[in-house]
Amino acid sequence: TQVKPYANEPFTNFTLEENKQAIQAAIAKVKTELGRNYPLTIGGEKIETEVKITSINPGNVDEVIGYVSKADQQLAEQAMQAALLTFETWKKVPARERAEYLFQAAKLMRERKHEFSALMMLESGKNYVEADVDTAEAIDFLEFYAREAIRLSKVEETLPLTKIPGEDNHVTYIPLGVGIVIPPWNFPLAICVGMTAAAVVSGNTVLLKPASTTPVIAHKFMALMEEVGLPAGVINFIPGSGAEVGDYLTTHPKTRFISFTGSKEVGLRINKLAADTVPGQIWIKRVIAEMGGKDGIVVDETADLEAAATAIVAAAFGFQGQKCSAGSRAIIVESVYDQVAERVTELTKQLQVGPQEDNFAAGPVIDKTSYERILDYIEVGKQEGTLLAGGDKAEGNGYYIQPTVFGDVGGKARIMQEEIFGPVLALAKAKDWQEAIAMYNDTEFGLTGSYFSTDEARIEVALETVHCGNLYINRKCTGALVGVHPFGGFNMSGTDSKAGGYDYLMLFSQAKLTSRKM
Ligand code: SER
Repeated sequence: TQVKPYANEPFTNFTLEENKQAIQAAIAKVKTELGRNYPLTIGGEKIETEVKITSINPGNVDEVIGYVSKADQQLAEQAMQAALLTFETWKKVPARERAEYLFQAAKLMRERKHEFSALMMLESGKNYVEADVDTAEAIDFLEFYAREAIRLSKVEETLPLTKIPGEDNHVTYIPLGVGIVIPPWNFPLAICVGMTAAAVVSGNTVLLKPASTTPVIAHKFMALMEEVGLPAGVINFIPGSGAEVGDYLTTHPKTRFISFTGSKEVGLRINKLAADTVPGQIWIKRVIAEMGGKDGIVVDETADLEAAATAIVAAAFGFQGQKCSAGSRAIIVESVYDQVAERVTELTKQLQVGPQEDNFAAGPVIDKTSYERILDYIEVGKQEGTLLAGGDKAEGNGYYIQPTVFGDVGGKARIMQEEIFGPVLALAKAKDWQEAIAMYNDTEFGLTGSYFSTDEARIEVALETVHCGNLYINRKCTGALVGVHPFGGFNMSGTDSKAGGYDYLMLFSQAKLTSRKM
């Protein structure tokens, strides 16, 4: 059958009463299913362990989302063996057939969209829009990578090799082997689905170790892939601790690649462990890492200041600032600084904090560790700048923090340099637009950035000199769309793998050239 051209999944309009009711009904349904047990899946076999991960609602810490079985090293080894065995058959399945599983999964996820969003909302603390966008992105990844696998399998149709007489030459992209997929909790569906689907549709088999704070939504994806008939052993679901299972698999001789999204610290550790060869290992492990950001928005004096302030607040506080793309810094040219700072402060104070299931603008942060780390950073901020909004924890039976803004922060301050991953925004003043760009670039990261200006000449310069993987002009720096804005950054932000881009599947493949004398 003919594959339709790729298009992004539309977002749900929650101002419409019927959509509001639909998501509320989905939340009610998910609530009746809380507190269940979820097994590991290894080679299609369901395995319950005694030790469990307890997943809770960060917005209501007495509510258990589910109890998820937890792999140890022995089970991780069992999963590795299952994945190795399955690779021998899965690698031979034609790309078109592999893609079909993704198309089917996308179709079912679309039909049950609100159910996925509702579960994610309760488990991760996203509000209606943030959860809906996450589910839409998951569907996009399935649809996009399925088409990409088909395209790569026929790459010579669009990129033919140079012909010479007397030889018949071809290049094909073949899979790598067994990969460890370690997704983050902040896009607990989209990124989990995207990383896994990309690896699998390229012909690899996978050990999926979901984030320990959001394993239930990851399990729901696993169950979906089983429902569409993905062969047993292609994805092996093994929640577990990073220190125990993560390190074990990263250093395993049969691990061919590690696909990781998460913090800089963990990414660097994986890269280091993976670089060591161990007995029995016959390849250089490939590490695909998407790490942190200290993303920022630059505003010059010619900019539409209202649009800039709105974008700064949206980028800083969407999902409580817990996106690697979050704009946690804004660098504003002196002559308009006060005006922008005032408006940002005003807009931030309008953000109401409360439970995500009641669709508050500012929900909880993910867990106690994050909560404490962010509150510590707020104390640091009080030393480094002027508190303009928030500055404290907020009421509620969960990890609630007030959206917080600090003004007059120096470029070298810790809250201008370190990734906080929470609702904390630092505003800094620059003497002019050139200094503002230099301050933006004064970071070890390089993931997303925005430049607000109406001056064409400056925009030209900004396009060339603002050093980040995703640079936006006159719009916020969050919300990359699959296929539209391939996503990934420079320097300590990772390996510049572009999720949702045309080169992504090559990271999970190797090119084989065959040349036949005629
Ligand atoms: N892709 C997301 C964004 O652009 C972050 O992971 O916001």
